[in-house]
Amino acid sequence: MTTLLQDGDVRAARDRSAPVLTVDDLTVVYEVEEPVTAVRNASLTLHRGEILGLAGESGCGKTTLAYAVNRLHRPPARIASGSITFHDRDGTDVDVLALEDTQLRAFRWDKLSMVFQGAMNALNPVTTVRAQLRDTLLAHRPGMSRAEVRRRSEEVLNRVGVDPRRLGSYAHELSGGMRQRVMIAMAMLLQPQIMIMDEPTTALDVVVQRDILREIVRLRDELEFAVVFITHDLPLLLEISDRIAVMLEGEIVELDEADRLYRDARHPYTRKLLGSFPSLSGERGGFIRSGADPHAAGAAGETEEDRA
Ligand SMILES: Nc1ncnc2c1ncn2[C@@H]1O[C@H](COP(=O)(O)OP(=O)(O)OP(=O)(O)O)[C@@H](O)[C@H]1O
Ligand SMILES: [Mg+2]
Repeated sequence: MTTLLQDGDVRAARDRSAPVLTVDDLTVVYEVEEPVTAVRNASLTLHRGEILGLAGESGCGKTTLAYAVNRLHRPPARIASGSITFHDRDGTDVDVLALEDTQLRAFRWDKLSMVFQGAMNALNPVTTVRAQLRDTLLAHRPGMSRAEVRRRSEEVLNRVGVDPRRLGSYAHELSGGMRQRVMIAMAMLLQPQIMIMDEPTTALDVVVQRDILREIVRLRDELEFAVVFITHDLPLLLEISDRIAVMLEGEIVELDEADRLYRDARHPYTRKLLGSFPSLSGERGGFIRSGADPHAAGAAGETEEDRA
């Protein structure tokens, strides 16, 4: 099993210090009868190509934060204060909260994409995988030829370990694991610089979950997009994340390198959270993470469950 320090050395060799997203002092309130401050003065920087884990118990505000970053929040949710800045690859800074509708449509999927909580049930039931990939591509790249659309669609499915012959399938013909892979393929379709994944594997069985996680880590290594990975599953985050933010009742109470957070958590809540997973006693395993096990069996193919 790879030790933490070796893993850290591998990762330090890449330049992951440039920011791709800065959230500063963000507060999101649900304006209901008794207003709920779901996100309170949250600040974080996402670095280019890193996997940032976002942990915290149900209701602490993880999804609300992700929606706000996407500008997908709807009333009664309101951004009460703060700023969100996207740092584009070409050097321009984009004030996300100031984007107008057309700019926002171009921003989503293209620069930043999201895999939603429960996404495996979000595929359109009445059209094929092919049609859904094509529609998303053509909405953003209207000039794309049919051959290019086909090539790109096949490429993204291959990347997430789904046989391109599945392009003709409808959602109900796919297993849960495959539907989830297709949603991840959709999210990478336009090569965004950031992918936000909200509980992307929680509903899946452990074997399929591991396969998909391996693929996410491998893709990140190859394509260098940044990932915000949201889950209440802290042991899982410790395996795949470069850094981890811990949320408690709307606040980010701790944000640190995964290794350091595991060894030397500062906040009592983080320590409590670590202590609540019996599997976290002893040496932390990093075998899903970068470079540790790139050719693991099943890493790039459909699993038994998927073929069923
Ligand atoms: N539409 C809404 N109206 C009022 N309050 C809401 C609404 N949506 C969410 N909330 C509240 O905002 C808080 C944060 O919810 P959120 O869904 O962001 O949490 P979460 O961390 O994603 O939880 P989970 O792990 O269960 O997905 C919760 O207290 C929730 O009750
Ligand atoms: Mg949520």
